[in-house]
Amino acid sequence: MSTHNERRRLMAPDIAARKGGEPIVALTSYHAHTASIADAHCDFLLVGDSLGMVMHGYETTVPVPLDLMIMHAKAVVRGSKKALVVVDMPFGTYEESPPVAFRNAARVMKETDCGAVKLEGGRRMADTIRYLVDRGIPVMGHIGLTPQSIHVLGGFKTQGRSIDQWHAIEEDARLVSEAGAFAIVLEAMTAPLAERITGAIAIPTIGIGASPGCDGQILVMEDMLGLSPRVPKFVKEFGAIGKAIDRAIGLYAAEVRSRTFPAQEHTYAVKGGDSAASPANVVAMATDTNDAALAASRATKKPRTPRT
Ligand code: KIV
Repeated sequence: MSTHNERRRLMAPDIAARKGGEPIVALTSYHAHTASIADAHCDFLLVGDSLGMVMHGYETTVPVPLDLMIMHAKAVVRGSKKALVVVDMPFGTYEESPPVAFRNAARVMKETDCGAVKLEGGRRMADTIRYLVDRGIPVMGHIGLTPQSIHVLGGFKTQGRSIDQWHAIEEDARLVSEAGAFAIVLEAMTAPLAERITGAIAIPTIGIGASPGCDGQILVMEDMLGLSPRVPKFVKEFGAIGKAIDRAIGLYAAEVRSRTFPAQEHTYAVKGGDSAASPANVVAMATDTNDAALAASRATKKPRTPRT
């Protein structure tokens, strides 16, 4: 078995080595098809627990179960080849103790084949981060606005608005970095604080609602595509996919109702003319056609490059 792919997937140390260099580009991804598109552009893809809100209609990320994270993470790993895939540890799966965190994070790594996990919290998670890293699990930290603590924070609030709050947040960043995390997400905090942290710690900072001075940026993909009904102030909508979907589905519905879809080019003709169109023949031919189309699509599908 080869151990050198031509273009191997990025790993946590590759991201760590980008400190202070070319900005790191990241997006969330929850499914194979968006992962395969984003893979060409991103250094890492985060299977964020925001998927609970974005895809499953929860009000917060608190209810997200580990099994759901694993299911989406498997799809993202299957859909991507080059980007590091980082998976969020959902609320309740890592806070209790380092061994509990290890058991659940090891499950994520083994079942999904991802390259790292992310967990929320500064000082309070430092021992857990060290415990996981010492046992072979790369960890990305996440401080500032930590959505899993929404009920303690009292809302999705910007952090570090007043300078008295800075010291605690800077300490969080320092302790996460010293505990061995390979990178850290800084969410919804004032720009000067994010810049100070970026200058003070040895690992890359990944900003979301933080500052252009961070070592990289991440956004929720659906937010930046213009697919989310409401977005926070820090999101720039780079697309208008929601409107495009609405327009396309509206056209489809109108054409079904007016019977202009399906048109002749979307339907199958019967071989040998109308005389062959007995119900039994029609069923047999539809089956043959489907099988032939499926076989042709499988034959042209590229095999996955084996990961070593
Ligand atoms: O869950 C998520 O999508 C995240 C990003 C906001 C960083 O943690």
